[in-house]
Amino acid sequence: MITIRKEKPSDTAAREALLDAAFGDARFAKTCERFREGRLPASNLAFVASDGKTVIGTVRLWSIKAGTAGASLLLGPLAISETHQSQGIGGKLMRAALTRARMMGHRSILLVGDAAYYERFGFSADLTLGLDLPGEVDRARFLGLELEDGALRGAAGIVEATGARAPVSSLRHLVHAQSERAAA
Ligand SMILES: CC(C)(COP(=O)(O)OP(=O)(O)OC[C@H]1O[C@@H](n2cnc3c(N)ncnc32)[C@H](O)[C@@H]1OP(=O)(O)O)[C@@H](O)C(=O)NCCC(=O)NCCS
Repeated sequence: MITIRKEKPSDTAAREALLDAAFGDARFAKTCERFREGRLPASNLAFVASDGKTVIGTVRLWSIKAGTAGASLLLGPLAISETHQSQGIGGKLMRAALTRARMMGHRSILLVGDAAYYERFGFSADLTLGLDLPGEVDRARFLGLELEDGALRGAAGIVEATGARAPVSSLRHLVHAQSERAAA
C-alpha cells in the first residue's frame, strides 16, 4: 500500500537518489534551485510517498517572497520513481501538499514545471505574469496557484528566497554526492 507522509531525516538518502534518477545533475542548475540551496524546506511542508519500505515519491515546498504579493511558497522538485509513475501517486502527493499548505494558512504557491501536468491542480501561468525569477525561466512553465482568492492578483516584482538556513551538517550529504559525481 502506498502512503503519503511527512518527510523524515532518515528519508534523505532515498530522496536524493530518487531526485538524481529523475533529473540527473541538471537538477542543481535549475533556476529554482537558487531558492533551495543552503535552506530548509518550509516547516511541515516536505512529503514523501512510501510503499512501506522504500521512498518512491517526493515533494517539498520552500518559503519565498513573491514580490508585492509577499509571503508565498515555491513547490518542487516533485518526482515519482520511474517504476511507480502513472498510478496517481504524483497526484496524491500534490493534493496532500496543497491541502496541508492551505490548512497552515499559506496564501499562494509558485512553481516552474509543465503546465500540462500542473494545470489539473489549478496552477496557471496567468498568475505569474508580473513576477520575475532571478535567472532564466520559460514563462509558460512559471506557474502560480492561489490558495486564498486574489492572493496573487497584481503580483509584481522579483521572487526571493526567505527560507531558514540549513545547518551545515544537513548539507554534508549533498557536498559528498556532488564531489563524487564530479570525480566520476
Ligand atoms: C511528473 C510526475 C511527478 C508525475 O507523477 P505520476 O505519479 O506519474 O503522476 P500521476 O499518476 O498523478 O498522473 C499521471 C498523468 O500525468 C501525466 N503526466 C506526467 N508527467 C507529465 C508532464 N510532464 N506533462 C503532462 N502530463 C504529464 C501522465 O501522462 C498521466 O496522464 P494520464 O493520467 O492521462 O495517463 C512523474 O512523472 C515524474 O516524477 N517525472 C519525472 C520528474 C518530473 O518531471 N517532475 C516534474 C517536474 S515538472
